[in-house]
Amino acid sequence: MIDKIKELLKETEAFSIKTGEELEQFRLKYLSKKGEVSLLFNDFKNVPAELKKEVGLEINKLKQFAQEKFDSFKEQLDDAPTGTNSLDLTRPGEPLELGSRHPISIVRNEIIGIFSRLGFTVAEGPEIEDDWHVFSALNFPPEHPARDMQDTFFIDKENEILLRTHTSSVQVRMMEKTQPPIRSIFPGRVFRNEAISYRAHCIFHQVEGLYVDENVSFADLKQTLLHFAKEMFGEKTQIRLRPSYFPFTEPSAEMDVSCSICGGKGCNVCKQTGWLEILGCGMVDPNVLESCGIDSEKYTGFAFGMGIERIAMLKYQVKDLRLYFENDVRFLRQFKAAY
Ligand code: PHE
Repeated sequence: MIDKIKELLKETEAFSIKTGEELEQFRLKYLSKKGEVSLLFNDFKNVPAELKKEVGLEINKLKQFAQEKFDSFKEQLDDAPTGTNSLDLTRPGEPLELGSRHPISIVRNEIIGIFSRLGFTVAEGPEIEDDWHVFSALNFPPEHPARDMQDTFFIDKENEILLRTHTSSVQVRMMEKTQPPIRSIFPGRVFRNEAISYRAHCIFHQVEGLYVDENVSFADLKQTLLHFAKEMFGEKTQIRLRPSYFPFTEPSAEMDVSCSICGGKGCNVCKQTGWLEILGCGMVDPNVLESCGIDSEKYTGFAFGMGIERIAMLKYQVKDLRLYFENDVRFLRQFKAAY
């Protein structure tokens, strides 16, 4: 009997297992109820008493070896990449999650939508610009601080090549190549040399607008912006224009909207004032029209410019502007686009 056990041990050692089928054959032959190990245990009662100890040890050895071999091959087969005969083509596919639009894109598209319905076209221009289109044509005096490297990113200071600090440069390009009537908006990325904080970033997005024609008045500007504010923040929204200064507009104003959170009563978001500043605007300075080859005796125009991040922060009550640039999916997933 000992010989038989030793032979079986050799046999199990030599048994090659590569597939699930072979593993099952191994189990049936040695480990199942009618397998060799069970048979040995059945015969055990016939073993003479003085040999019981030795035979018992050997059978257990065989049993243990066969079981270990079985376990380790089973593990290997389970871990193995799906082989040809275990590839299940009927399994459902991995679901592909649909992305969502970035909140800045959503708000930009919304702004574009509102002005398109008023007949404004959309134009874009280069992010790398020259001094003329960003400053000189826009009536910036030579000593204006924006022309300083402190405030503007220069690519080539000598040749005055820089990253645009506002999309007003696209207004200049538009006026240089088109005679009025001009009615366009200019969305795009702009760059300013600012320390990054919860309320400022060195890259942000603007939409500027320009309307030049005969008899364009400040009243047209005000009515257009009131319409925009109501569309963007709700029918009850009111606007307020405060005198301001830009080199390229005269007169200039900054526009506030009544706080859409508290309805003007005063809250944390509007710092108890009831108003939120959202854009700069004014009548295009005649010097700018002339610089761009437009007759300032015949034509007048209005312009405005707003930061998309600022509008998005108010709309979604996001308190830290940096979130828009970090692309954390947990943040981005929360925005659903109507556009
Ligand atoms: N260009 C101005 C800015 O970047 C915004 C503006 C545009 C103001 C047009 C008035 C008219 O802040």
